[in-house]
Amino acid sequence: MHRSMKLLKEYTTLAPIYDQRWSAYLDASLRMTFEKIANLPADRVLDVACGTGRLLEIMSQRTDLSDLVGVDKVPAMLNVARRRLGERASLVECDAAQLPFDDADFQLVTCTNALHYFPNVDATLREIRRVISPNGNLVITDWCRNYAWMRVLNRILPWTRYAHTHTLSSNELEQSLSQAGFSINSETKGKIDWFWGLMTVHATPV
Ligand SMILES: C[S@@+](CC[C@H](N)C(=O)[O-])C[C@H]1O[C@@H](n2cnc3c(N)ncnc32)[C@H](O)[C@@H]1O
Repeated sequence: MHRSMKLLKEYTTLAPIYDQRWSAYLDASLRMTFEKIANLPADRVLDVACGTGRLLEIMSQRTDLSDLVGVDKVPAMLNVARRRLGERASLVECDAAQLPFDDADFQLVTCTNALHYFPNVDATLREIRRVISPNGNLVITDWCRNYAWMRVLNRILPWTRYAHTHTLSSNELEQSLSQAGFSINSETKGKIDWFWGLMTVHATPV
C-alpha cells in the first residue's frame, strides 16, 4: 500500500481514540515542547502535523499567542482538532512539505511527534524555513534514535501496517536543520518512561 494511504488509514482509525490512547505520552512529549516555547514571542503560530490539536489548545491558553494555525494531512485528525478548538485556531488540510502560506508568515513553528512520518524530512524542513520569519523560532519534538528502544522500533515499524518512515538521531536532525537554513539554539534529550526516548530542538533561521 502507498505510504500516503497507509497514513490516511492509520490515522483515520486512530483519530477517535488518539487522545485517550496516547494520553500519558502526549502529556510528557507536549510538556517538553511547551517548555521550549514558553517564553518565545509570536504573533502568528503554525503547528505542523497538529493532529487532534492538543498543543494548539495548550498554546491557546497563552493570551499573547492569539493567531494559531494548524495543518495536518488526515481529515479525521483535523475533525477532532476542530471540535476541540472551535474558533481558537484555523485548521488546514495539507501536506507538511507543501504549506499553503506566504514566505515568512509565522513567527513560531512547532512540530511534535510527526517527523518520523515524513517521507522527505529535508524538503519538509526547507518548506518550514520558507514560511518562518527571519527572526522566528522553530521547535521540534520527536522520537530520538540515540535511544536503544527507538532504534529497535525504527527497524520493526517498516515491516508493519504503520506509516512510519524513519526515526532520526539527534545528529541527523541537527544536520537536516542546518541544511535547511537553521541553527540550533538548544536541544533537550530525555526518556519520558522506560521505553520512549525523545528529543526537543529549538532552532532559529540563519
Ligand atoms: C503522532 S501524530 C502527532 C499529532 C500531534 N502533533 C501530537 O503531537 O499529538 C502524527 C500526525 O502527523 C500527521 N502527518 C503525518 N505525515 C504528515 C504529512 N506529510 N503532512 C501533514 N501531516 C502529517 C498525521 O496525520 C498525524 O496527525
